[in-house]
Amino acid sequence: MFDIEADKTIVLADSNTVKLLPGLGLDLLPRIVIPSGDENKNIQTLSFVWGELADMKATRHSLLVNAGGGMVCDLGGMAASTFKRGMRFINIPTTLLAMVDASAGGKVGINHCGVKNLVGLFNEPERVVLRMETLCSLDVHNILSGYAEMIKHGLLSGQNLYEKTLSFDILNEDVRALEQLVYENIAFKNSVVSDDFRESGKRKILNFGHTVGHAIEALLGGSQLHGYCVAWGMLVAAYLSVTKAGFPREELTRLQSIVRELYGVVPVDCKSYDRLYELMSNDKKNKGERVNFTLLRSIGEAITDCDVSRDDIFEAIDFIR
Ligand SMILES: NC(=O)c1ccc[n+]([C@@H]2O[C@H](COP(=O)([O-])OP(=O)(O)OC[C@H]3O[C@@H](n4cnc5c(N)ncnc54)[C@H](O)[C@@H]3O)[C@@H](O)[C@H]2O)c1
Ligand SMILES: [Zn+2]
Repeated sequence: MFDIEADKTIVLADSNTVKLLPGLGLDLLPRIVIPSGDENKNIQTLSFVWGELADMKATRHSLLVNAGGGMVCDLGGMAASTFKRGMRFINIPTTLLAMVDASAGGKVGINHCGVKNLVGLFNEPERVVLRMETLCSLDVHNILSGYAEMIKHGLLSGQNLYEKTLSFDILNEDVRALEQLVYENIAFKNSVVSDDFRESGKRKILNFGHTVGHAIEALLGGSQLHGYCVAWGMLVAAYLSVTKAGFPREELTRLQSIVRELYGVVPVDCKSYDRLYELMSNDKKNKGERVNFTLLRSIGEAITDCDVSRDDIFEAIDFIR
């Protein structure tokens, strides 16, 4: 079916994306269904999937088809990469975030001990299959969540993709027109990842907006979608880019008005700053105690491993509130 020889093809979906299987032509294949939600991207669910694969007599020559958002792609990729020391998998991302980000780049894993993606590995899917029509059932908040990562890719890639992204009317999106932009996002991510698969250098630029974004996400206990937190985090990083790296102030103003309009104001007050800072210092991407930022000199020109002081971070969060 996917042009990949396999002794058995098994589909993995969550309790929502299982409804998409008939439309994807996958309803006749054996399936494993897991509960939806990032709180289930954990060792219990992973263990359940290993058990189901064993019951279904999957082998190292079988193929796992991950049909879902980033949660299914991450956990399914982890299950496939470890089952019998590794079977192949493909991703059919069904959220915009998974299409432009999670399904490509080869990071798989699960959350553990309250830490997101604590356990995982680098392993690429055999293929990523895009089926844009799956987005028709996705709610607007999840569309916006994915769009934040597209804005990030635009900022990192350069004026061309950035302008295309901002001029795209995401709230009235035409799924077909979106497809072209999604391809460009995947191409950009792949171009970054192919230069630095294990994130020792260039790939770190993809963390733009994520130092603060992840901390906000953790502070709010997962009550806000990832992309919303990244949007707010990008605004903090853009402010720091102006003060530390010469990023044009008018671009900060433009980004600020887009983030305000689409994502609203960050629901964080100044009593939470210390906790936010603590969360940033615990980020697994730091080396030692330092809080590491990716900043922008200009659109398309990122610098990684920027040390930013606690006071400067607090000033930037003040700015976005
Ligand atoms: N591996 C990577 O490089 C990478 C990058 C970014 C994010 N991630 C991971 O991705 C996850 C977030 O991904 P996500 O935002 O796709 O979340 P998700 O997979 O949890 O999906 C969000 C919700 O939408 C539902 N859903 C999915 N597709 C749908 C559709 N077409 N119609 C209706 N409902 C649908 C899901 O069941 C879920 O309830 C996180 O675990 C994050 O860590 C990984
Ligand atoms: Zn992200």
